[in-house]
Amino acid sequence: MGIKRREFLGLTALGATGALLWQGRNLLRSRNSSPLAAPIPEIYRSEGGSLEINLEARYEDVILGGEPTRNMMTYNGQIPGPRLEVQPGDRLIIHFKNSLDQPTNLHFHGLHLSPEGNQDNVFLHIEPGETFHYELEIHPQQRAGTYWYHPHHHGFVAEQLFQGLAGLIVVRGDLDELPEIRAAQEEFFVLQDFNRDRPPQGMMDSHMNLMAGREGNLITVNGLFHPEIAVTKDLLRLRLLNASPSRFYRLQLYGQKLMQIAGDGGAFSQPLERDELLLTPGQRAEVLIKTQDLPKTPIHLLNLPYQRAQMGMMGQQYNNATVAIADFTPSAQTFAPVQIPAQLIPVESLPEPSRTRRFTLNHGMVPGQGMAFLINGEAYRDQPQTTVRLNDVEDWEIVNTGTMDHPFHVHVNGFQVVSRNGVPEENIAWADTVLVRVGETVKIRIAFRDFSGKTVYHCHILDHEDLGMMGQLEILPAS
Ligand code: C2O
Ligand code: CU
Ligand code: CU
Repeated sequence: MGIKRREFLGLTALGATGALLWQGRNLLRSRNSSPLAAPIPEIYRSEGGSLEINLEARYEDVILGGEPTRNMMTYNGQIPGPRLEVQPGDRLIIHFKNSLDQPTNLHFHGLHLSPEGNQDNVFLHIEPGETFHYELEIHPQQRAGTYWYHPHHHGFVAEQLFQGLAGLIVVRGDLDELPEIRAAQEEFFVLQDFNRDRPPQGMMDSHMNLMAGREGNLITVNGLFHPEIAVTKDLLRLRLLNASPSRFYRLQLYGQKLMQIAGDGGAFSQPLERDELLLTPGQRAEVLIKTQDLPKTPIHLLNLPYQRAQMGMMGQQYNNATVAIADFTPSAQTFAPVQIPAQLIPVESLPEPSRTRRFTLNHGMVPGQGMAFLINGEAYRDQPQTTVRLNDVEDWEIVNTGTMDHPFHVHVNGFQVVSRNGVPEENIAWADTVLVRVGETVKIRIAFRDFSGKTVYHCHILDHEDLGMMGQLEILPAS
């Protein structure tokens, strides 16, 4: 009575063979149960140059999309996890504990950190019951912006995000100091999707879902279903993160223009006016909205349809409806006109590259492995596939010869998009994840600065990453 059962599918990868084993996990939802974890994430801010926190990955009953949901994966009992706020030059110490029943670790997506030791090391295996001491030195030149942390243990990444593991890391700095932006109402939107009320599926069908990249039928903003945000100031600053494993968000604020002021790697040099905003998995954006222009009725933030695969292909069935994911409700007061600064933060352009490399994205059959997702014809293996030199600047041409879109992500160093299909990119900006559509060639320019060591690049549709679309990058010390 009062308890509904549903199937929740968990995936375990058998690393050695690459075979996939399905496990059914029952998730119970109950009403009137004992107190449930708060849906609003905690905020931890650095003080006096450091921030030291305890962070535990553990199962917890949470309120998700307004309903008690049992046994989700959380950081400190919360979905999304606590928001960490730091400044360039800070030390961030995380006493991490893995209380899950599978291995995990932490990745600090977008931050310019050492990939080694106890910093942004995605090769760590933190086993169930183990603790690990992370000690991050936020780089003194780290660009202010919206970054995030999530698990990165190969083979478990998509599942662990799909069950809730993700949190924001905000680096405060120059953009936050611009007077108009400082005065704005700041809201953070962590976009996640989860599976709810989906019928149990057979192995074939589920494997198809993984190849497409899993999407859930519940979209949440900060763990909430369709929240209402009261508008209280003349200028609204929205900071968005796509923390979904596979879903693309194509956002539109019904009838309003969005002024985008920042992307993955912090501020643009000038604001860009947009009718809509496409956020692939992993990407972040900041937009400003002049609230004087808003109608006096609640206004929807819409998620519009997006086809991320060719017709008839895997992934094509998704995101085919327009849904409102949040409402903005103006308060009774009238808002004053505001000027959005015409100049934001200057963006340096990178010097000419010393070489150009090519990365071809596709999927295909691999003997003994079945369908795998490939970069230059190879699935991920634990040895360097690309070796570069510290302080070099390179152009990378990312070519998508497959039938599905792939958002390409590089760790440790940000990059700038140079061109798409040979057409030069107008807005020079820092990014760490770039969409490469079916048939497209995207050229990015990347400088390997400050840190040598091994790290990775991969598709940020995390099922594709888990199924092999990742490469190891070794940055050798300068010669
Ligand atoms: Cu957000 Cu390697 O990923
Ligand atoms: Cu990353
Ligand atoms: Cu992909």
